[in-house]
Amino acid sequence: MHEAFLEAHPAFATTSRLDDLRATEYGRLDADGHVYLDYTGGGVYAECQVRDHLALLATRVFGNPHSRNLTSCAMNQFVEETRADVLRFFNASPDEYLVIFTPNATGALKIVGEAYPFGPGSVFALTADNHNSVNGIREFARHRGAVVRYVPIVAPDLRAQPDALARILASAPDAPHKLFAYPAQSNFSGVQHPLDWIADAREQGWDVLLDAAAFAPTNRLDLSLVHPDFVDISFYKIFGYPTGVGCLLVRKATLPKLVKPWYAGGTITFSTVATEDHYLSPGPAAFEDGTVNYLSLPAVSIGLSFIESIGIDLIHTRVMCLADWLLTELPALRHANGRPLIRLYGPPTTDGRGATLQMNFFDRDGERIDCYTTERLASAEHISLRAGCHCNPGARESALGFSKDDLEACFLDADAITFDQFRRRIVGKTTGGLRLSIGLATNVADIARYLAFARTFLDTSIDELPEGRISAGCVELGA
Ligand SMILES: Cc1ncc(COP(=O)(O)O)c(C=O)c1O
Repeated sequence: MHEAFLEAHPAFATTSRLDDLRATEYGRLDADGHVYLDYTGGGVYAECQVRDHLALLATRVFGNPHSRNLTSCAMNQFVEETRADVLRFFNASPDEYLVIFTPNATGALKIVGEAYPFGPGSVFALTADNHNSVNGIREFARHRGAVVRYVPIVAPDLRAQPDALARILASAPDAPHKLFAYPAQSNFSGVQHPLDWIADAREQGWDVLLDAAAFAPTNRLDLSLVHPDFVDISFYKIFGYPTGVGCLLVRKATLPKLVKPWYAGGTITFSTVATEDHYLSPGPAAFEDGTVNYLSLPAVSIGLSFIESIGIDLIHTRVMCLADWLLTELPALRHANGRPLIRLYGPPTTDGRGATLQMNFFDRDGERIDCYTTERLASAEHISLRAGCHCNPGARESALGFSKDDLEACFLDADAITFDQFRRRIVGKTTGGLRLSIGLATNVADIARYLAFARTFLDTSIDELPEGRISAGCVELGA
């Protein structure tokens, strides 16, 4: 079967450098027999990244970059170099963009949410396919009187409705401020929403927030070709280490629109108690609350240059070959009675999608097996997947067909019921899908192991599986 895969995907052979690296830099995966397929959850770091970072820390003395002494100046130089490296990685001109360091992509999104000048008459539009860290911005928007509009997505492909998008983008010509947010790649379905939307929306006066957290690890984001106003990133998703650092890339021309509702240490040049005044720092520092995770920033530069040494296009080629293999094999898996084993949620081919696949397993009678059960059984085989809605409730609702009425019934008199009563109402709506996401260290053997695992469900009945039914639990309420 591997031969057939290699024959059908000649481009895969060009990525053999990643097989070498799997042996030298990611050997711990095989030493422990792990099949890691949760790259959209978090990337896996190469050993050399950690070694290089530790070597730097072990040989240098670094101080808080907010001071002006020798050790802080040394650190500050690294901080600024890392900013420049991030701009270079995304081919963003320093004349056009600046980089604000944050704890993660969510921290970047929160900056936009709390500082965007939402108010009466302004609009926040977003796709139903969005991470909760983007959905949550609607609460800032609503509280300040802005209108919130969702662009629906449609099963089975889970892409946005073009007409609805066009209508919404055209609907607020005179709004004083309007922000449109969408993910370049869905963390649920792997759908890649078109980057052309950025120019379309901006031409109609929208500021555009591109959530690139799930896209950046395996796709080239070239900010000389597209010009979103805001882009959020979590670095651990690209190269695994360090966690705790993300960034917001902001167009310099849009930055003055952001009105920071408070200030903190590190964000001001001057503040006084006597007259209760303050003066914000110019540039990115105004949005970096407190002390940045400075000792980790050199590890970001190390990670970026590691990815550059491989080439993001090579990584993309490899993950898409492997995704194509799964997209061919999985729908072909049938029980003896002809019923499909798996239902995919999202595009059935590699066109306009990334290497994140969402699915559920069905037993021989066509009953859906609880995704948490499948996840648990995979873990027993040392296969790391992720079950649930992955913080993307809109995609789950469209994929599984939960209607607005269903969900409204759950929230009826929500203030008057206990959390336990709410849990009982919402049971069944908290299930989701089983996500498999491919990354730079994934190899042919990993995908073969996953396919072998999937085949073990052929001709099984849900009654043979411990806690196979969906009513089994309310496992993932918030996420
Ligand atoms: C598309 C997308 N946006 C935002 C986030 C939030 O990232 P973080 O949890 O690192 O803040 C994630 C995390 O999975 C994501 O996949």
